[in-house]
Amino acid sequence: HLLTASLLLFAYLLGSASGSLLLGRLRGIDIRKHGSGNAGGTNAFRTLGWKFALGVAAFDIGKGMLATWIALRYAPVGQPLSVTAHGYLAATAAVLGHVWPLWHGFRGGKGAATAVGGLLVLWPWSIPLLLLVWLLVLTSSGYVGLATVVAGACLPLLAWWIDAEAPRLWFAIGIALYLVFTHRSNLQRLCNGNESRFERARLLHR
Ligand code: G3P
Repeated sequence: HLLTASLLLFAYLLGSASGSLLLGRLRGIDIRKHGSGNAGGTNAFRTLGWKFALGVAAFDIGKGMLATWIALRYAPVGQPLSVTAHGYLAATAAVLGHVWPLWHGFRGGKGAATAVGGLLVLWPWSIPLLLLVWLLVLTSSGYVGLATVVAGACLPLLAWWIDAEAPRLWFAIGIALYLVFTHRSNLQRLCNGNESRFERARLLHR
């Protein structure tokens, strides 16, 4: 269906607009050349501080929400593909855009904030649970990448537990695996013992 294809293309193009790279441009900096080299909220925090990181997170979460909301709003009704499935596919397209952005030489971030944006629209009550897991891992280990991967891994478990319908279940499985893939350098660094750690976040460790 042409409308379905257009909605997914739009979601990909919107996802391709990277918060850290666009806002970084205003500050005259390409954060891919600093810190972990990742174009995302965590490296924005590492490189330019919390105010900048907050702007980046809001931008990347916001675009995930917008891409998903537009797909739900304009999805063709009465097609084999349900309106809800359109929402999950658009969220996926936005995440892919964030990781492989057309506007930034296909070198983007890891997709967590954009996925959170999609979830806020499609499955909002999963967010407090994911946030709790994320905070527990972060405050005990100090590793953001690890916290993100572990929180992502809870998503399919949650979908299975609530006996979620197919689009939600597949999204949950897909995003969890994809976060492992995009965080492979973090996991590698964790194994090697040289992943950068936020010591001040280790509140439970003290
Ligand atoms: O989602 C990104 C974050 O979990 C890790 O970012 O910069 O530590 O690789 P970074």
